[in-house]
Amino acid sequence: MKQLKTKIISIIEAMPETYLVWLEAPEIVPMISGPGQFIMVSCGDDAFLPRPLSVHRVDGGQVALLFKVVGKGTGWLSQRKKGETLDIFGPLGNGFTLNPDSQNILLVGGGIGIAPLCFLADYALGEGKMVTVIQGARSGDCLLPITCSQKLFDKGVLPSSLHVINATEDGSEGFKGLATALIKHYVNTADQVFACGPMAMYKTMAQIPELKGKDVQLSLEIMMGCGTGVCYGCTIKTKSGLKQVCKDGPVFGMGEVQL
Ligand SMILES: Cc1cc2nc3c(=O)[nH]c(=O)nc-3n(C[C@H](O)[C@H](O)[C@H](O)COP(=O)(O)OP(=O)(O)OC[C@H]3O[C@@H](n4cnc5c(N)ncnc54)[C@H](O)[C@@H]3O)c2cc1C
Ligand code: FES
Repeated sequence: MKQLKTKIISIIEAMPETYLVWLEAPEIVPMISGPGQFIMVSCGDDAFLPRPLSVHRVDGGQVALLFKVVGKGTGWLSQRKKGETLDIFGPLGNGFTLNPDSQNILLVGGGIGIAPLCFLADYALGEGKMVTVIQGARSGDCLLPITCSQKLFDKGVLPSSLHVINATEDGSEGFKGLATALIKHYVNTADQVFACGPMAMYKTMAQIPELKGKDVQLSLEIMMGCGTGVCYGCTIKTKSGLKQVCKDGPVFGMGEVQL
């Protein structure tokens, strides 16, 4: 884990109230062990606790974060400009575990939960996996375009290795309804399932019979204090006792957590 001041290379409003920021972080990139890890970002003055944001993408020595404005910290962050610096520390936590034997994987993103799944999709495609992404959002303008990057294409990854299915609650794009309603149609061929989204999405997933017996990994985006296992503010009950989301997670097996 490294603490440093990073320079903002770019910051744009990628979707309504959702910002994509690229940071110059060559010291952090080599320490990232894989998708699902997060970075703590100081948002405002020193009295303000840093906020956890998932690694959304990595390119060379740069790290991208994708965040939704929900309160004071993310609001402050959205007002930053290119060339300014940010205090960050990371990478932190234990991310998703991709089984080398898996051929097909299914990713399920609810709302801003799509942020770490883009990094996972890139990683898995680079490992030669077939990736299906179910992305759920409120409306079409809140869907992130997910494609096979030119870099992966240049490495020989076929665009057909990536299949994206969109679901919107208002039906303005893709399937009308929740992402979870589509899982049963795509899960049979999946060797592993990875999800990131609100707790309500996980509660629904826990009731889907087709997911029983599968390796299902969930990233828990709960409120955090320190991000480093010191404050115990992120403690949750699991089947194997109390765990800290920041240190033991944020990714847990679906069967492990109490939903
Ligand atoms: C491991 C991890 C990774 C995350 N990755 C991302 C990401 O990539 N992109 C992203 O947009 N967000 C992500 N989050 C959530 C993000 O940390 C919160 O949205 C952020 O801390 C809110 O700060 P704020 O000061 O803007 O809001 P606050 O003013 O603190 O709170 C505003 C509202 O948001 C709710 N809230 C605050 N923190 C969280 C939280 N952690 N989860 C759910 N609701 C919260 C509060 O209950 C309140 O209703 C992640 C959280 C965790 C734990
Ligand atoms: S956030 Fe402090 S222990 Fe996890």
